[in-house]
Amino acid sequence: MRSICIYHSETGTTHAVMNEVVRSIASESLRVRDLAGYSKATMFLLGAPRALLGAHARIEPSSFDLDGYDLVIIGSPVWASRPTPVVNAIFSSLKHASGKKVVLVCTSGGSPGNTLKIMDERARSLGMEVLGRFHIAHSMQGGRDDEEQNALKELLWDIARS
Ligand SMILES: Cc1cc2nc3c(=O)[nH]c(=O)nc-3n(C[C@H](O)[C@H](O)[C@H](O)COP(=O)(O)O)c2cc1C
Repeated sequence: MRSICIYHSETGTTHAVMNEVVRSIASESLRVRDLAGYSKATMFLLGAPRALLGAHARIEPSSFDLDGYDLVIIGSPVWASRPTPVVNAIFSSLKHASGKKVVLVCTSGGSPGNTLKIMDERARSLGMEVLGRFHIAHSMQGGRDDEEQNALKELLWDIARS
């Protein structure tokens, strides 16, 4: 099974979660950057309102061809209870998405809000088959929701075995 994690991570948490996925199912991985180049302050001052409006970021790389992949794992930080502008742009930039299996993941400091619902709607509107949705919360001290992380890994192992 050929799989790829495509994700945004501005401050490293989603990256760490995706790294565990990469290790557990030998997935390929692609961390997508926002060309806005936010500072800590502008992430909140500009990034959060953009997320709230459902804006699409200018991203690098700018398109993703899923031809040849069996499974895609798409990861987003939660910004203002929504996917980030990078992840909105990722969905718009997917080629050959129709019929692909997808697992959706978000990380947050507390609550996913509408993030997974919005990602799910975007994926389905592209004709993708959503196999699972996971929200992995982390604490200020750096701890993560191990139960949800393990549930994500178990689903991916099941998919890889099937
Ligand atoms: C601009 C901004 C908005 C955020 N909004 C929320 C939110 O609405 N709810 C929440 O629980 N966490 C929120 N967070 C916390 C992030 O979702 C959390 O730290 C996430 O794991 C960051 O992922 P990353 O390190 O991969 O960028 C926000 C963080 C930023 C920078």
